[in-house]
Amino acid sequence: MTAQLIDGNALAASIRVDVAARAAQLTARGLRPGLAVVLVGDDPASAVYVRHKVKDCEAAGLHSVLERHPASMSEADLLARVQALNADASIHGVLVQMPLPRHIDPHRIIEAIAPHKDVDGFHVANAGALMTGQPGFRACTPYGCMRLIETTGVALRGRHAVVIGRSNTVGKPMALMLLQANATVTVCHSGTPDLSVHTRGADVVVVAVGRRDTLRADMIKPGAVIIDVGMNRNDAGKLCGDVDFEAVRQVAGWITPVPGGVGPMTRAMLLVNTLEAAERAASR
Ligand code: GUN
Repeated sequence: MTAQLIDGNALAASIRVDVAARAAQLTARGLRPGLAVVLVGDDPASAVYVRHKVKDCEAAGLHSVLERHPASMSEADLLARVQALNADASIHGVLVQMPLPRHIDPHRIIEAIAPHKDVDGFHVANAGALMTGQPGFRACTPYGCMRLIETTGVALRGRHAVVIGRSNTVGKPMALMLLQANATVTVCHSGTPDLSVHTRGADVVVVAVGRRDTLRADMIKPGAVIIDVGMNRNDAGKLCGDVDFEAVRQVAGWITPVPGGVGPMTRAMLLVNTLEAAERAASR
């Protein structure tokens, strides 16, 4: 059996159509949703990511502002910019691109963003809301992974889900979202001696470690749902995920490709969060 592909491009496209329609309704009322993206320094990958975010906003009819600052910007100056964006009524979402230069404390910056504009879902108020089952912004990548799992029709209640990776941005919120959906959740990480002890019994595996071939065919249960968050390059320089895709797809039931799986969904969920921030502001 070969796994069915979970098409992140197609799902993201349908989400963007919905966001554009809802954004147009707000715009017609004079309340165009707006996202501010702040980039500090000249990391080339970050520059590409922020350009995508702004382009996605334009395509969906959202207002967007891209602020670029030199790597020498002080923490105090960045905090002042965040506070100005918090106070700007035309901006509903504020995103400071990570990583930041080493002299700036990312936690201090994230906690300075108004929680109701934290469309990354990184602020402790939003992380805490997820932990306690309250409404709030969900981190875009795990939120997108949940939507991808939903499209398979595999009900999570009572299933065993394994998350590989424990970052604040993906692994930890992913585990909480799966738990919220009533899965039995195991979190594996760099200190886990034998991943396959856990993954072989899993109905769903989400891999987010940033190392190719982390999940191989002999490590999974036949028919499992495999979500690959990784973004790496193979020896030929071709984009690949954390999963040995060609081998694992022979055993899995469902699998996300890289590219075209999680990546487009992360971008789509940022639009969803920004739109919802604007909808909430409009109903206040
Ligand atoms: N850097 C890489 N991914 C992200 C993201 O989703 N949000 C922010 N703010 N920075 C990132």
